[in-house]
Amino acid sequence: MSKGKASKGFVVWLTGLSGSGKSTLAQALCEKLEAAGLPIERLDGDVMRGVFPNTGFTKAARDEHIRRVGFMASRLEHHGVIVVASFISPYREARDFVRGLCKNFVEVYVKTSIEECRRRDVKGLYKKAADGQISGFTGLDDPYEEPLTPEVVIETEKLTLEKSVDKMLQYLKEHRRID
Ligand SMILES: Nc1ncnc2c1ncn2[C@@H]1O[C@H](COP(=O)(O)OP(=O)(O)OP(=O)(O)O)[C@@H](O)[C@H]1O
Ligand SMILES: [Mg+2]
Repeated sequence: MSKGKASKGFVVWLTGLSGSGKSTLAQALCEKLEAAGLPIERLDGDVMRGVFPNTGFTKAARDEHIRRVGFMASRLEHHGVIVVASFISPYREARDFVRGLCKNFVEVYVKTSIEECRRRDVKGLYKKAADGQISGFTGLDDPYEEPLTPEVVIETEKLTLEKSVDKMLQYLKEHRRID
């Protein structure tokens, strides 16, 4: 049997605070890539936690969650799938672990200030944290370790959604991940 085309799989990994815009950007990016007929799998924190509902928010639980998802992303990438992953993934070491598993890892730092995330409060979680109903919340009483050398930085307070997606696509084109 002849071999298929060379794999063009890669992993776009969006990291940032809750409400920073990861899922919104992932969705918009996937729409563009799907329109181009490319094989995509979207992995999202909320969906994964729905599948593994016992996943907690301690450092150990968060790290395990990211390792589990990262391994899956790397296997999909290996088979030529474009993976768009949106996870808070607050710890640098866990993100770098996933980077190490993947061949082509594009870390996108969705950089939105905590003030803006609190203002958006898409899920009402910042209010709950302020009211003391939840603790260990990333950026408030739990750490978020900013990426030091991400491939792409998206400042959502400065760029529109459309420009943000263009910036990611531009990176992928410049680095010959897509045509
Ligand atoms: N430039 C932008 N890019 C992305 N989202 C933006 C932008 N400007 C405003 N927003 C808004 O910010 C919100 C981001 O919410 P979203 O659910 O995508 O965050 P998230 O990072 O996935 O959070 P979580 O970690 O809690 O899942 C949305 O309401 C979105 O419309
Ligand atoms: Mg999300």
